[in-house]
Amino acid sequence: MSTETTSEGLSNLLHEERTFPPSEEFGAQANGTAELYDRAAQDREGFWAEQARRYVQWETDFDQVLDWSQAPFAKWFVGGRVNACVNAVDKHVEAGHGDRVALHFVGEPGDTRDITYADLHVQVQKAANALADLGVGKGDAVAIYLPMIPEAVVAMLACARLGAPHSVVFGGFSAEALHSRIDDAGAKVVITADGGWRRGKPGALKPAVDAALAVGESPVEKVLVVRRTEQDVDWDDDRDLWWHEALGAAADTHEPEAFDAEHPLFILYTSGTTGKPKGIFHATGGFLVQTAYTSSVVHDIHPESDVYWCTADIGWVTGHSYIVYGPMTLGATQVMYEGTPDTPHQGRFWEIVQDKKVSVLYTAPTAIRTFMKWGKDIPAKFDLSSLRLLGSVGEPINPEAWMWYREVIGGDRCPIVDTWWQTETGAIMISPLPGVTAARPGSAMRPIPGISAAVVDDTGKPVEKGSGGYLVLTEPWPSMLRGIWGDPERYKETYWSRFENVYFAGDGAKLDEDGNIWVLGRVDDVMNVSGHRMSTAEIESALVSHPKVAEAAVVGAADETTGQAICAFVILRADAVAEADEEGEGAELIAELRQHVAKEIGPIAKPRQIMVVPELPKTRSGKIMRRLLKDVAEHREVGDVTTLADSSVMSMISAGLNKGD
Ligand code: WTA
Repeated sequence: MSTETTSEGLSNLLHEERTFPPSEEFGAQANGTAELYDRAAQDREGFWAEQARRYVQWETDFDQVLDWSQAPFAKWFVGGRVNACVNAVDKHVEAGHGDRVALHFVGEPGDTRDITYADLHVQVQKAANALADLGVGKGDAVAIYLPMIPEAVVAMLACARLGAPHSVVFGGFSAEALHSRIDDAGAKVVITADGGWRRGKPGALKPAVDAALAVGESPVEKVLVVRRTEQDVDWDDDRDLWWHEALGAAADTHEPEAFDAEHPLFILYTSGTTGKPKGIFHATGGFLVQTAYTSSVVHDIHPESDVYWCTADIGWVTGHSYIVYGPMTLGATQVMYEGTPDTPHQGRFWEIVQDKKVSVLYTAPTAIRTFMKWGKDIPAKFDLSSLRLLGSVGEPINPEAWMWYREVIGGDRCPIVDTWWQTETGAIMISPLPGVTAARPGSAMRPIPGISAAVVDDTGKPVEKGSGGYLVLTEPWPSMLRGIWGDPERYKETYWSRFENVYFAGDGAKLDEDGNIWVLGRVDDVMNVSGHRMSTAEIESALVSHPKVAEAAVVGAADETTGQAICAFVILRADAVAEADEEGEGAELIAELRQHVAKEIGPIAKPRQIMVVPELPKTRSGKIMRRLLKDVAEHREVGDVTTLADSSVMSMISAGLNKGD
């Protein structure tokens, strides 16, 4: 682990002194108030008990807020019983809001569906019955591999209704990646689709499921298939069922059961510092409480009047927390869009904002930087006056992008909430409160009420204002991960062993003179590519699994649009080197390796660049010095090489690459 990242890019951040306080008008109507900070500071657990009872409907009330006696394994809202699906759907119908639109679905080809809470109520009951008919019950894992269509929301909520933890796998992951996730979770049923629409074309999903289940013994008994693109699909009569037929045959009503607050709600795999993704799992009660609370105080959702749109995919945590559980527990109306921002034209997002009168928009810096590149004339063609609040998530937002977002999209009127959190934290942790905080472009500002964070040095001591260090969370929080599926030791080791009694987030951060936090990016071997977490070790192991590769090292190099880009350095096996030289097929080989990574992990993991090198820089103890490779990838002068076992390696690499240019 190194502190390199913590000093990177600091100089420009340090000079950022602009502040943007909310308007009086915004402050007056905001859900999040300054008093919340005081209340949480006085009595943290009492504060969380209040939020829990305010935002969540408990079938049985809890009798203890937090049990931390087995730290770092937490239990929140002990004794409480709750059903997440009832909170997201039934509750609103019972309160008389059945006619409210839950989802304004916009398909990429232009098809639209408005689905009310009453419609969803029918769907989740049928889906729960269909799943129960297939033998899914409390505690049975279900894998979901779907495009961004309403059935994804219905599938997740139906699982929650049954107490069956869902494991959603992003559609950009390959059959291989899907296979390992299905196996690790022991999923009994997979819910997929024939395909989804992307960039004007139908992309297939079912073939990846077929391939994933063809390898070895599989725990999967049944596959439910949603019809979306109407592509031809292979069919296994014993195993495959159409979703519409299964739901059509299922009973209309389903009596929900309440589960213990600690009952696992879902598993979501995320990249860590080793080759094997971690199955992060979340508990029902605490997750609902904190996602709903933050949807209210950070996104300021007023369910009776707002149209909210989170542009994330359901396959990532942002989709779980801020499409499904948070906003829906509040009873929000939201937009769900299937496709890409440039299909069929680069104004698609702004057209949707205009047509659906979106008032709260939550997106990622990488998207904002892409829009900047396309130019402000594109959003200028649309009426964006419905917007009143903008959010950002997934990676640090540079001040230029923040200002562009504010001026061009927000008409200089909308507050921006830059929200820091992780798959592991389950919900927003550090962010401005939009009606309270005078925000600074590029800073996530302060922990929200109820959350405690610090920036510490190598020894775990809080740093002085004006200094950088590691971001840690100093108190447990309701939506914290409950562990890594099947690997409690790895949970302790990864998050709770770097410093005593605090959660180590893996991010570098800086505290400014006013005590605001500036998150700078990962300090471990995790890359952040377009807001997606990618592990260097995972891509390296995919590369070395190719028969022509002897060794590989992967680094994240700075990239203007995607934040970081994947750059790989590979050493070929001797016979492959000879072959490549003879046939001059270097370019083909690189294409083959990129394709291989796509097959092993998924298209999202394809390196931007693969460089064939004769050697890799290593320390005497054999550790690859990624810092030096990063210098090469970012076209910088190569740094200090004195700790290398062989100091000539870097000149060999540079010479080889120049020759290739
Ligand atoms: C990064 C996404 C700076 C960070 C919700 C974190 C951010 C990782 C921000 C988690 C932000 C997320 N400012 N960095 N506002 N939000 N990150 O698990 O490095 O996909 O550790 O969760 O994204 O990524 P994950």
